[in-house]
Amino acid sequence: VARAVIAIDGPAASGKSSTAQWVARELGFCHVDSGSLYRAVTAAALRRAIPPEEWTGKQVLDAARSVSTTPAGTSVVPLIDGELAEAEMRGPSVTASVSRIARMPAVRAWVNEQVRRVARDYDVVADGRDMGTAVFPDADLKVYLIADSWERAKRRLVQHLRRLPTPEEIAAETDRLVHRDALDATQSVQARDAVLIDTTHLLQEEQVERIVALARAAIRRPASG
Ligand code: C5P
Repeated sequence: VARAVIAIDGPAASGKSSTAQWVARELGFCHVDSGSLYRAVTAAALRRAIPPEEWTGKQVLDAARSVSTTPAGTSVVPLIDGELAEAEMRGPSVTASVSRIARMPAVRAWVNEQVRRVARDYDVVADGRDMGTAVFPDADLKVYLIADSWERAKRRLVQHLRRLPTPEEIAAETDRLVHRDALDATQSVQARDAVLIDTTHLLQEEQVERIVALARAAIRRPASG
């Protein structure tokens, strides 16, 4: 049986992962966040105390050997040395170096293999930068999420700080996001056949509803429940 694939791509902090996770739950699919795999490999490389400017593809692939994946709820998530390392993976040093690692072709091949392996066993909602282009060119549905960079920065800070950020904090975060988008530009491509959704003025619930409806139409399966 061919598995269904929903690909959700977009720039940093566009809400891809939380949206993808929610969509997966609604559809009874498995969620896989490719960005979390790039982050896990980066964290594993940083643990080896080699300065990021000196990383070679071989060293990074070697570090990737300490990364495995495991089911967690309705997602498949990375482990480093057999343990969850969510705070480390989302921390500033990983965020600052992940784009450098993501540019290495051997690392991209490694991540793509992990994501495709999940899709051999499950119907998936996969999110990242190139799910609808390089990884799943034949996805049943491709969505490209965008949002105004100020709005993305604000959402990210609210999530991290659990309070309302100041305008200065939002401005600084906007700069970091725009910088990371520039570093990621070559590996971030909107598929020609992707549905573009601008979430600047949408509630997350609304984005999820829209994507679930598109997914059900695309895979023509009756709604469950
Ligand atoms: O999605 P998130 O911001 O967590 O991704 C972290 C980094 O991983 C991105 O900045 C990008 O460099 C890289 N990435 C990628 N291709 C993907 C997903 C993430 O290059 N499909």
